[in-house]
Amino acid sequence: MNMEERTKVYNQAREWVLQAGAVIRDKINDPLTIDTKSNPNDLVTTMDKDTEEFFVTNIKSEFPDHFILSEEGFGDNLTNMDGTVWIIDPIDGTMNFVHQKRNFAISIGIFHDGIGEIGFIYDVMSDILYCAKKGEGAYKNEMRLLPLKEKVNMEEAILGMNHFWLCSNRLVDEQTMQQLVKTVRGTRTYGSAALEFAYVAEGIVDGYLTMSLAPWDIAAGIVIVNEVGGVTTNIDGKQLDMLSKNSVFTCNTSIQKNIVDFLQKGRK
Ligand code: IPD
Ligand code: CA
Ligand code: CA
Ligand code: CA
Repeated sequence: MNMEERTKVYNQAREWVLQAGAVIRDKINDPLTIDTKSNPNDLVTTMDKDTEEFFVTNIKSEFPDHFILSEEGFGDNLTNMDGTVWIIDPIDGTMNFVHQKRNFAISIGIFHDGIGEIGFIYDVMSDILYCAKKGEGAYKNEMRLLPLKEKVNMEEAILGMNHFWLCSNRLVDEQTMQQLVKTVRGTRTYGSAALEFAYVAEGIVDGYLTMSLAPWDIAAGIVIVNEVGGVTTNIDGKQLDMLSKNSVFTCNTSIQKNIVDFLQKGRK
């Protein structure tokens, strides 16, 4: 996108994100219809679907030549990342939304010809909008986020990861993961991939490690983390495929090699 187009898309997306968030906040205590998808813990609500439909309807009307990749089925079936693609997670952290009524986010990444150009992660209940435009820095509401610290040692790092890493899993043996947990300063589990990316960008978590995420979990986060000098790859340090699921490691660049090397010791 050229600068003018990017600014137009950014301003419009920002307005829609804030509007959608306000609707969710207004309805937060309304009764919910909750369904399950792939398993009993994979929840979806009418709010997830209505929010996604709101974005898709608006995008199709305002930007008819743009494409949409989204979680709840209102988007397009894409086989490539050509053109402008909105990658949308209407509610990231649905389990938190249902059980806690907080700690969930609207996440929208906008890519052009495969490159992330715009990212929004909206912590709806806290009314905190993390946003970024490629090459123009990342913001938490009006405050510009600082570049990530130049040097963080593994021993001083806080890692976002969930506890399934410590159970037998298909990627890394659990002894290696237990050693990793004991080596770093601390670990955190927030239950929203998008918010975990935002915390990496904010520098309050040094890395976030996950076994399998969809494009809509990470698209906005990739752009925002990039803008503060962080890096996002799979757990082997390789490039992500935005059209499929990936293992994901987003982090302060200075811990990337050490942690990727550490994981390789137990890699299956
Ligand atoms: C989920 C959340 C969660 C992560 C899951 C995701 P959803 O997204 O980001 O933190 O561990 O893998 O699927 O389903 O709530 O949008
Ligand atoms: Ca989901
Ligand atoms: Ca998600
Ligand atoms: Ca979701």
